[in-house]
Amino acid sequence: MKLIITKNYEELSKKAADEMADIIKSNPKAILGLATGGSPMGMYKELIKMNKEGKVDFSNVTTVNLDEYIGLSGDHPQSYRYFMNENLFNHINIDKTNTYVPNGLAKNIEEECKEYDARITELGGTDVQLLGIGNNGHIAFNEPDNELLSGTHLTKLTEDTIKANARFFESIDEVPTQALTMGLGGIMRSKKIIVIASGESKAEAVKAMVSGKISTNMPASMLQMHRNVTVIVDEAAAKLL
Ligand code: F6R
Repeated sequence: MKLIITKNYEELSKKAADEMADIIKSNPKAILGLATGGSPMGMYKELIKMNKEGKVDFSNVTTVNLDEYIGLSGDHPQSYRYFMNENLFNHINIDKTNTYVPNGLAKNIEEECKEYDARITELGGTDVQLLGIGNNGHIAFNEPDNELLSGTHLTKLTEDTIKANARFFESIDEVPTQALTMGLGGIMRSKKIIVIASGESKAEAVKAMVSGKISTNMPASMLQMHRNVTVIVDEAAAKLL
């Protein structure tokens, strides 16, 4: 794992945006695996700025997101489709038909998961997968467990995750309890993985990811088995390293 420690969140966001932009510059048709949540918001702002300044062109880029809440439509303000539109896609020159987020309202969940994986395969996998990390070490919504799944699947969110995500909702009761998530296989097949984490609350998980024992109970530790991972963390998240 390549480790980059930045002074603060702002520097982390710039660094991550530069890494993404370099991938797009070297391959204008890049397939980007993207994440939602607090961690990538600054990076998306930087990418929007770069796009407006003509420094990076998204017209031929395709994106595949990691996850979506069950029961929220794409126009629900807390859905991950809405998040992506608001925080990135609406502000850059991307063709939205080339942006994929699992459908949290799919009638046939099994079919939706199969199609999502087939799409990723058809695209040839992602060139880069951006990841945040949960306080409990989850990546995408692969929660700590005695076993992890490879393909896209339906998952139950843990209490920890529901609590952590309640900050985006009016009350904790509104946080969906289930989600569709890319599995470990989809993530590990990416040519490159970039993990970003900011703040002291992530320090334990970051330490376990980088130097802990590999365990399905710490899903991020699985990344130690990937050959091209860059971890970008600020000093607070790197505190225990
Ligand atoms: C989001 C995702 C999650 C988050 C993680 C960290 O698409 O897959 O794994 O990356 O929960 O969330 P934040 O960045 O809000 O701390």
